[in-house]
Amino acid sequence: MIEDRFEAVFERKPDEYGFTPGRVNLIGEHTDYNGGMVLPTALKLGVSLALSPRLDNEIHIWSDKFEGIAKRTITDVVSDHWSDYITGAIILANEHGYLTGGADIAVETTLPFGAGISSSAAVTVGVLKLARAIAKADTSDKDIAVLARRVENEFIGMPCGIMDQMAVAIANPGQALALDTETLDYELVDLPEDYHMAVIHSGQFRQLNEGRYKERKEECDIVKSALGHNNICQISDAEFASLKNLPDILQRRAKHCMSDHRRTVEAIKCLREHNMLKIGELMNESHISMRDDFEITVPKVDALVKDAVTLGAVGARQTGGGFGGCIVACIANDKLEAWKTALLAKHPESFWVS
Ligand code: GLA
Repeated sequence: MIEDRFEAVFERKPDEYGFTPGRVNLIGEHTDYNGGMVLPTALKLGVSLALSPRLDNEIHIWSDKFEGIAKRTITDVVSDHWSDYITGAIILANEHGYLTGGADIAVETTLPFGAGISSSAAVTVGVLKLARAIAKADTSDKDIAVLARRVENEFIGMPCGIMDQMAVAIANPGQALALDTETLDYELVDLPEDYHMAVIHSGQFRQLNEGRYKERKEECDIVKSALGHNNICQISDAEFASLKNLPDILQRRAKHCMSDHRRTVEAIKCLREHNMLKIGELMNESHISMRDDFEITVPKVDALVKDAVTLGAVGARQTGGGFGGCIVACIANDKLEAWKTALLAKHPESFWVS
């Protein structure tokens, strides 16, 4: 238990502790910084955090994944260290008056890193929620998510959208969060009980702050300037045609944003109607769009997705920021065990996540 772990490390009881889930995105990729819809759901796996404020300005962090205690302060800048996310969250918690100084924090996680299932958003949202509880502030979960995104954008230098933070702050396992990233309006839609959204790691790890995510963001920025507005996802076919003077690669980036947004809108409708076969088709198309138009997949993931479908999933796709990490596959419960065994046997480097 995280509260016992905190007490063993810091020799006092934590003031607050809690659990934040990871997330898997079912469809709608790289649409969240381009004005579109996304459809993530919360995982049962996640991050447990315990926190007590300190009287000085130091931040002491113990993690079950790293040696020793990281010692930082609330005037620190990013140091390319695993403790940057928590340090950034504590600094913003101070800026917002939830804390007035440093903190002792213990963190335990069941989420693999570099997997595209939001271990970092779970940590930053989790810390900010505990700080909110300490301050007894009535900030909404939506505003906590907005603050957590700032940690990534301003401290880590990762120009991400809002999907991950909203998903882990708001969604529950068994429900998908149909989120309009333009307005931040959302609805929770039940997932069917007779299908499983399986999450499997390809065995190819990646870091989104290594530059390729930023490159896609910058390509989308050029498309936005050409359009004269920021919403690439919701352009009409005519507006898309008006981009024909842009280099082919940028037209394909725009095409992915527009088409994946449309697929996501349709998938939400299908989820309400329990049309899982159609959702599967949309997932397959989304993967092809990420592979050919947005170019964020890698051969190992393409092969895993292909076999997931050949072996019986109604649909499968890479999930998250891209360039490796996990796939998500929609599989009927009665086929799950045999399918899982066959798929993992065929891809010995891949492993089951959820
Ligand atoms: C990462 C980012 C999100 C989103 C996805 C791609 O997870 O943090 O904001 O852009 O990639 O859909």
